Amino acid sequence: MTGKICGTGSCIPEAVWDNQKLSEMVETSDEWIRERTGVAARHIALGEETTVSLAAGAARAALENAGMSPEEIQLIIVATVSPDKLMPTTSCEVQKQIGAVNATCFDLNAACTGFLFALNTAQAYLSQGIYRTALIIGAESLSQLTNWEDRSTCILFGDGAGAAVLRASETGIYGLVTHSVGDMGEVLTCSSRNRKEYANGPAAPETYMQMNGKEVFKFAVSKVPEVIGELLEQEGLTTADIRYFLLHQANERIVRSVAKRMKTDMERFPVNIENYGNTSSASIPILMDEMNRKGLLKPGDKLIFSGFGAGLSYGASLMEWQ
Ligand code: COA
Repeated sequence: MTGKICGTGSCIPEAVWDNQKLSEMVETSDEWIRERTGVAARHIALGEETTVSLAAGAARAALENAGMSPEEIQLIIVATVSPDKLMPTTSCEVQKQIGAVNATCFDLNAACTGFLFALNTAQAYLSQGIYRTALIIGAESLSQLTNWEDRSTCILFGDGAGAAVLRASETGIYGLVTHSVGDMGEVLTCSSRNRKEYANGPAAPETYMQMNGKEVFKFAVSKVPEVIGELLEQEGLTTADIRYFLLHQANERIVRSVAKRMKTDMERFPVNIENYGNTSSASIPILMDEMNRKGLLKPGDKLIFSGFGAGLSYGASLMEWQ
């Protein structure tokens, strides 16, 4: 038994901050950001928009796309590194907003690898017959964790949410390989602003995302092809068997470099970072939703999802579009 994806959705904040706007906030330029990252603009959650509202919006869109009612959902997992609150969980808040009264809900934090781990977790429940339906969501308001005075990080990130509805299926394939490297945790960090030592005065710099960009870049371009290779070998497949590789959208140069290292045409490595920036756990499901709605995903297509991020963690999963 596997879980097949039967609906996708996304929810993107209305406000768009293009590179020009950022160049008025920090010393940077449209040309530098595009050249180094591929990002042209990112969406920012403002006013009533929150991680919960974006997650709920993506969930509603995915349910509509699947033709399912919220009551049919038995499991909700929200992957997020930027919840509005620690409690109640984002997933329970989503449950309340959409009326998924029969679901068991929990959140999962694996930073930018979060959606991949949520997909793996849902697959484990569905393949064991514990639940027959699941809603998985990657949702982020990274703008809350971004230091808008730090040009080495603020140019990269954006807000948004993506979701997928899964149903247990007798057919289909699913395979995964995941790894974590806690020893490298220091290259991408963010401390909680709720801690006592940060309680008074303006937010301390360490309570915003801090990143050694070069180390993360090197890690991603070496580990992503490696883990995809491991997965292909484990499943007895080659790159030629895979229709699309949906990679976490962290930096277009990372995606290009992975494609090159795997000697595979960029056409099979879709990219949409130009319009969203890096939306962490939301990037893969937003990309998948765009492709689904454009009719690019056909039954029988073998897809590999691959994510990496803070922890550090990384992994790849294989599934067939049904
Ligand atoms: N605008 C203009 N100049 C900038 C800048 C900006 N926003 N940010 C840094 N620079 C400058 C630096 O000060 C440096 O100047 P110097 O040569 O005079 O010292 C120069 O540009 C190069 O900086 P560097 O940090 O080496 O750039 P880079 O090519 O490594 O690109 C990142 C920086 C962040 C775009 C890149 O390292 C990256 O994308 N890494 C991966 C990050 C990632 O994926 N994170 C999420 C993981 S889930």
